[in-house]
Amino acid sequence: MSKFYSLLNYGCQMNESDGEHYSGQLQELGYQYVADFHKADFILVNTCCVRESAEKRIAGKIGELKAVKVANPQVIIAVAGCMAQKEGDKLLQKYPQIDLVLGTSYVDDFKNILANYRRRAAFLDLTVRPKEFEGTKVRKSSFHAWIPIMYGCNNFCTYCIVPYVRGRERSRKKENILAEVRQGVSQGYKEFTLLGQNVDSYGKEFGVPDAFADLLLAVDAIPGVERLHYMTSHPRDISDAVIGAVAKGRHISEHFHLPVQSGSNEILRRMNRGYTREHYLELIRKIRLAVPQAVITTDIIVGFPGETEEDFQGTLDLVQEVGFDSAFTFIYSKRSGTPAAKMENQIPLDVKKQRLQRLMDLENINSLACNEKMVGREYSVFAEGPTKNRDIWSGRTSGNKLVLWPVEGRAYKQGDEVQVLVEKAQTWLVKGRAKQ
Ligand code: SAH
Ligand code: SF4
Ligand code: F3S
Repeated sequence: MSKFYSLLNYGCQMNESDGEHYSGQLQELGYQYVADFHKADFILVNTCCVRESAEKRIAGKIGELKAVKVANPQVIIAVAGCMAQKEGDKLLQKYPQIDLVLGTSYVDDFKNILANYRRRAAFLDLTVRPKEFEGTKVRKSSFHAWIPIMYGCNNFCTYCIVPYVRGRERSRKKENILAEVRQGVSQGYKEFTLLGQNVDSYGKEFGVPDAFADLLLAVDAIPGVERLHYMTSHPRDISDAVIGAVAKGRHISEHFHLPVQSGSNEILRRMNRGYTREHYLELIRKIRLAVPQAVITTDIIVGFPGETEEDFQGTLDLVQEVGFDSAFTFIYSKRSGTPAAKMENQIPLDVKKQRLQRLMDLENINSLACNEKMVGREYSVFAEGPTKNRDIWSGRTSGNKLVLWPVEGRAYKQGDEVQVLVEKAQTWLVKGRAKQ
């Protein structure tokens, strides 16, 4: 009789990638995927804890699973990922419906753990497991593949929980990364994203200078790699060699995602970001010089402890000066165990909300202005699928811009390369018509 599994994935691209690993191992154990978790024999909740809002949403979902367990006591419910790592045994105590808690460094051991599963247990030791994850993956997309190049983070930005739940930086060996990309190409993948919390420090432990720029060029040179992205860069660490690699690479995306977090030097210092606004602006200037068509996006936190109106104004000024293509904007969320959680002058929620709104209003104007520059130009778009209106398809440019176009009688499939002439810009996307 077939067994079924469901995967509820939250959080960042690294969790997406881990989810593909879990799926691969579950399928090796004979499970088949089912979207409706009520029909599953095994439910995996892969969690995130970067902000309180994520944790609340996930806690709600775990609560919902209680009824599933009552209806079917045989179902195995596992909670994995960053919140599992952070909350550990507390989850087992609080939620009787949970059978297994898996920390972030047990991804590759999951198959063994599940095959030998007997009773409720937690696997949480971060320190003893430096090895890299290998083995089967079942990917969601038929043309785009996530490729982790490093795990963990050593930066300890003072607001951030990630270094505590993902452990210290470990880079994968270059030959293993290249082998995974080659295998991907042989399976029909053509677009790849190299993943790490701070990709610019890839390979530091090998003692090779410019290891990340080298890796980018080596992946770019693999026949069949048609598009190459990477995330996330750190403004302190991105090197001239990386900018040079993007400029001269054949298929490296001209998208630079460079989280600035704040435009105030005092806040940046207290965030432990390791750069100033002047350094950041200089970096943007260098990028635009080397890659004139660069798409530049960022992450910004408002309401970090002690952020004054003047500090916030510094952020607005920087946003105005750079003219980001888009920005992910967040209200600072207190994460217990991080240095910022203990800082004085936590900002009241209503002030944070107001600042977020003012920032978003400004960024929306900038995003629209950037997208308007695309009008009248033609872009190569990788088709992702139909929108709700099935006569309209969506896809992305090499700079990661979302594009919609009408099917007009043509039959597309995921991964098709379509030439689209952009006719209309909106804040979040552009619309156009396919040539040919
Ligand atoms: N390693 C990546 C991603 C980290 S999490 C990086 O350094 O960019 C993604 C984003 O979440 C961060 O860039 C930051 O803007 C935001 N973030 C992290 N911790 C947060 C917190 N405690 N409150 C609000 N936003 C946070
Ligand atoms: Fe968090 Fe900073 Fe590491 Fe990014 S670089 S994961 S924001 S500690
Ligand atoms: Fe990613 Fe969330 Fe963990 S952002 S690294 S899944 S805390």
